[in-house]
Amino acid sequence: MVIFKKVAYIQQYISAQRVGGRQVGFVPTMGALHDGHISLVGQAKQAADMVVSSIFVNPTQFNDKADFEKYPISVEADVAMLIDAGCDVLLLPSVDEMYPNGTADMPVFDFGYLDTVLEGAKRPGHFKGVGQIVARLLDIVKPDKLFMGQKDYQQCMVVKNLLQQLGSNTDMIICPTQREPDGLAMSSRNRRLTTPQRALAGVIYQCLVSIKTKQTEGNFALVHKECADLMAAKGFEVEYISLADADDLTILDNYNANRPMVALIAAKLGDIRLIDNMLLQ
Ligand code: PAF
Repeated sequence: MVIFKKVAYIQQYISAQRVGGRQVGFVPTMGALHDGHISLVGQAKQAADMVVSSIFVNPTQFNDKADFEKYPISVEADVAMLIDAGCDVLLLPSVDEMYPNGTADMPVFDFGYLDTVLEGAKRPGHFKGVGQIVARLLDIVKPDKLFMGQKDYQQCMVVKNLLQQLGSNTDMIICPTQREPDGLAMSSRNRRLTTPQRALAGVIYQCLVSIKTKQTEGNFALVHKECADLMAAKGFEVEYISLADADDLTILDNYNANRPMVALIAAKLGDIRLIDNMLLQ
């Protein structure tokens, strides 16, 4: 695996490698890699001729300063995992390299409704930062295919919207969430959970399964209450337990068999914020 810290050098390298129509697959990350990321690299390897990944903890997408400061960093282990997974190229830039002129003059993308609900409402400015950095990374790597995890469902929708706004030809491939044996969605933030918190964290998945299973009963308000009560009893601070249209994220009050549906949960255990989702069909 070739590692680049400088944008100009990785750009030269990728364009030289692209000869003969070789397809570039891209897996952007913020590091602290786990098997979820590695599965994205695996899928990129199957679908593209060359896999590029990036590790950059993007400061502009953290609405909570403490979350940024405590974001886990494990570059050496990450590099080893990427090599094992067969990643070909890694971009490991500094903040100055990504934002050489600061962020004031960077383009600001408007994600409309998507930025006003769920994560958009709970994390003001988050998707603005995601839009900025993903646009910058796409401009550097110019991938044929972009691989992102379904765990960040709303982020996937935002990035799809970004690709449209940019008039990009990059195909986005959304890959299934990887889970621990108790169902907990793999996430870099999981490693900040204490042992007792970790033992409880699988409850989010149990609630998603219960929302999915009980759709036949047709009473989301009841299932919502059961899940909210269970999570509160286990010590979660619930931010939302929501049902939405899977295509446009319209919030649904009740199950609607005529619409594609996704259940989404965000909750805190101590100061660790966890999110997860499940498609209902
Ligand atoms: O999902 C992430 O890890 C980040 O939001 C991303 C897409 C790499 C942008 O910083």
